[in-house]
This record gives sequence, structure tokens and C-alpha cells, in this order.
Amino acid sequence: MKRIDKPVLLVVFGASGDLSKRKLIPALYHLAYQNLLPPNFTVIGFARTHYTDEQFRALALEGVREFGSAPLDETIWHWFSQGLFYQTGNYDDLASFKALAECVATLDKQRHTAGNHVYYLATPPSVFHEITTLIHEAGLCAPNPRPESPSAAHCRVVIEKPFGQDLASAQKLNEHLLSLFSEEQIYRIDHYLGKETVQNILVFRFGNGIFEPIWNRNYIDHIQITVAETLGIGDRGGYYDKAGAIRDMVQNHMMQLLSFTAMEPPVVFDPKAVRDQKVNVLRAIRPLKPEEVERSVVRAQYGPGVSDGKEVPGYTSEKGVPADSTTDTYVAWKLEIDSWRWKGVPFYLRTGKALAAKVTEVNIVFRKPPLMLFETMNGDKVPPSNVLTLRIQPDEGIRLSFDAKRPGPSVIIERVAMDFSYREQFGSQPSADAYERLLLDAIAGDTTLFIRRDEVELAWYHVTRVLEGWEAQEQKARKQDKKELVLPKYAAGTWGPKEADELLARDGRYWRNPTSLRLLR
Ligand code: BG6
Repeated sequence: MKRIDKPVLLVVFGASGDLSKRKLIPALYHLAYQNLLPPNFTVIGFARTHYTDEQFRALALEGVREFGSAPLDETIWHWFSQGLFYQTGNYDDLASFKALAECVATLDKQRHTAGNHVYYLATPPSVFHEITTLIHEAGLCAPNPRPESPSAAHCRVVIEKPFGQDLASAQKLNEHLLSLFSEEQIYRIDHYLGKETVQNILVFRFGNGIFEPIWNRNYIDHIQITVAETLGIGDRGGYYDKAGAIRDMVQNHMMQLLSFTAMEPPVVFDPKAVRDQKVNVLRAIRPLKPEEVERSVVRAQYGPGVSDGKEVPGYTSEKGVPADSTTDTYVAWKLEIDSWRWKGVPFYLRTGKALAAKVTEVNIVFRKPPLMLFETMNGDKVPPSNVLTLRIQPDEGIRLSFDAKRPGPSVIIERVAMDFSYREQFGSQPSADAYERLLLDAIAGDTTLFIRRDEVELAWYHVTRVLEGWEAQEQKARKQDKKELVLPKYAAGTWGPKEADELLARDGRYWRNPTSLRLLR
């Protein structure tokens, strides 16, 4: 990471909340610890809760102590905390924003931040509209000269997820934002793009010469992307019940993993070239017809069970969840990408809460050899031997499996693997928190790892088709009074519903469940 020389003032809306305390402040402090923040770096926390600057600094210190990854160094903390300020205000009140504008102007002078501003919306999406409108009305963010010039003052707006609830609401939010700011000023965040191992997909694919030639339909049988979590929804019932796994994980994080895995090489590594190629993947996904949704997408909800050694209540017994909720906590989706590279190669995506393991990985399953020469391999029934596993988290690494002859007089084949483990290779796990990288990029003005307007809308386009298909299924089931037909259940602590296994079994394939393979020590 390169140190940024241009001083910057960051305003965090929702600064008294969880995201700010757990993620943003600890990430900023860690950047300070690594000497990566610009000189005079200044933060104004803005929220409804009343705090003084000192109280906000104390809250920030708690966050750094509890959630930070860097040791607390007195000198660095002193430097960092002297740049923390707080402004109490309401998100729908112009007077509060005018007061904020005064505070910004004063600090700009005092701390020589030269009008370079980043506004971070770490708030619930219900107030995105008001906050951005008032940022504009209070004159806090003038349009940037296009393209952003290195010497002029800049203003950027960082928007947290969820970005909309469906295609129409995402389009509406985009139109609103674009009536106030230019696309170059809007940084739509997906924290998966800040993960080292997600970025490493691109380095692995395009920094090496030997994988690209086989990264296509001629060599690859299918691709599986798994984002499994062991926890249930905890106390996020109010939010989660309106979102479900498809909005919470698939529309954003999984679509990003899919894009990185399937995209064409960009001609250069710059924001436009990279994002153009990601968008092309989303454009090439074959749109599902309503009647295809039932066959291609499985949704399910967890029932009671034991996950990761802990008792998990059934989803509908969680706090804030209606007893008759039909929200999905699990989704498995078979999708096809109609491009020269991928035609005929299915992508199987799955994600769920309260599953058997916490693991995110991409499995590239290569085709079998055209002839199975070795009898002991039990003919065609043997599963494909060559699988490339990109382990995003935990135990970050990459593994290639293949078959080898066990030493001895007869031909006994054993499945073996070549491993690359971040921990073994670099002596530690990839440590930088995803937010560190993304905050730094937003401060530096690099949009490569942020989501562009067309990207977020295309992802919603496909997800909305699924949502509409589900709605049609529900209406049909309601008429027949058969709710369980549309919403299979799985016990917490398992790998999900049998319907998801059937989704692959119909194609003669099966899910690769990471724990059973004992991947990556
Ligand atoms: C968030 C979702 O975006 O990502 C959460 O809202 C989910 O429900 C989380 O648990 C997963 O992130 P990570 O980095 O732990 O894989």
C-alpha cells in the first residue's frame, strides 16, 4: 500500500453505531499504525447520539482495543485521536447539516485538509436518501471536475450495503445519487472486494501464464462457489428477515466472487478496464425465466440444530423473526454464462447461515481424462480428480488435487494435492481487514474495488428475476396451502437441504463439502 500525501477529511455518518466501532475506526487506526494515512488525517463522526469529541475518542479507543488488530501505541494513538471530532445531528435536518458544514470548514482551515472530503454512510439504508440530499443541499460536496484532477479538491461518497432491495429500488437510488454526484464520486462498497484472497483471484489468474489457457469450457467441467457460515442470524432478525440470503450474500458478495472467477483479462489494471470485464460477466449470465427459477434455484431455511458446537434455534424462533417467516437463510443457484469461454459450464453458487462450517471457497472442477485407463479407478464413477480450490477464508490458500500412483507392485491410485497456504508461506494469515483496503482506496480515489452503477444493477437484475420467481411460487403454494413445498428446511449444523444436493445430482455432480476434504492444513 502506498502512503497518500493529500490531506483528507472523512465524515462518518452513523459514527455511534456498530460498523463504525467494530470495523471503520479499528481499520483507520491500523492504517495509522502502518503509517498509511495522509498527513493531518481528520475524521468527523456524525450521528444522532450526543457525544463530545472526547467521548467519541473514548468510544473509538474502545473499538480499537476490542476489535483492532494493531497494538495500541501511545504516540500513534495520540496522533490519530487528535484528528477525531464529533458532531451531533439528525439525518433529515438541514440545520444539522449546515452545522456540519461549518465544522468541516473550520477543520479544513485548522488542519489544512484543503477541501478534500470523503463522506462515509455507515447507516441503515433507510436514511441514504436524506443524508445524500442534505450533503448536497448544505454544500458539503461540490461536483468533481471530471475526470478528478490530482491537484483540485475532491469529494467522494461511500455507500454501504445493502444497495437497494431489488432492481427498481437500486435504480431509484442510483438515479437519486447521480442527480447529486457524478459516478466517479460514488463508492459503492462490497467488503468482499477488500479481502486479500478475493483480490488474489485476479493475481492468480492474470499474473501467471499457465492457468489462463485452461480456464475455459475446454478444460473445466463446472465451478462451485460456496460461502458457508456457521452462525445463525443472531440479533439481526429485523434486518435479515427482509433481506434473506439472496439479498444479504448472493446479490453482492457471491456475484463479486463469480465475476472475478469468470471475467476476461482486462487490457490494463485500471478501474474502468477491470469493471468493464466484471460487468461483461453479469451481462452474459443467462436470465432465468420465471418457470426456470424453481428448477435452478433452491432456497431453504434453517431449523433447530447444533452448529459449531452451539445450539442454534430454528430461524423462525430467532429474535425479531415472525413465526411464519418464509425468508431464505440458504440459497443454491445453478447459473449459466453464455460466453465463448463459459458456454456449457455450469456455475453452482450456494450460501447459508447455520451450516456445518464457516468457509468461503471457489472450486474449479476440471474435466476427467477422456479415457479412464486405470481399472482400479472404478471407471466413470470416479469423481473428477483435478480440482483447483481457491480458499478465500479461513485457512486462506490454494490447492490443486490430482491422482498419483501409490508406491507398490499394483496400480493403486490415490488422490493427492499441492497446497499453497498463506499462513505457511507468509508466516501469517492475510491480516489486513477488508475495510482497511477499501477505506484506503476511497481516501486515495481508486474505484477499482468498488461497484459501478451498471454492475450493481445487473446483479440486481438477475436476483430480481429469482425473487419474482419465488413470489410466483409462493402465490401458487398459498393457494394450495402448501408452504413447505416452496421452502425446504435444513437442520442447523448440516450442509443444507437435500434439494440442493439434488440440484447437482440431476447433473451427475455433487457439492464439495470442504470439511470432508480436510483442505489446507
Ligand atoms: C455481510 C452480511 O455482508 O457479510 C452478513 O450482511 C455476513 O450476514 C457477512 O455474515 C459475511 O462476511 P464475512 O467477511 O464474515 O464472510
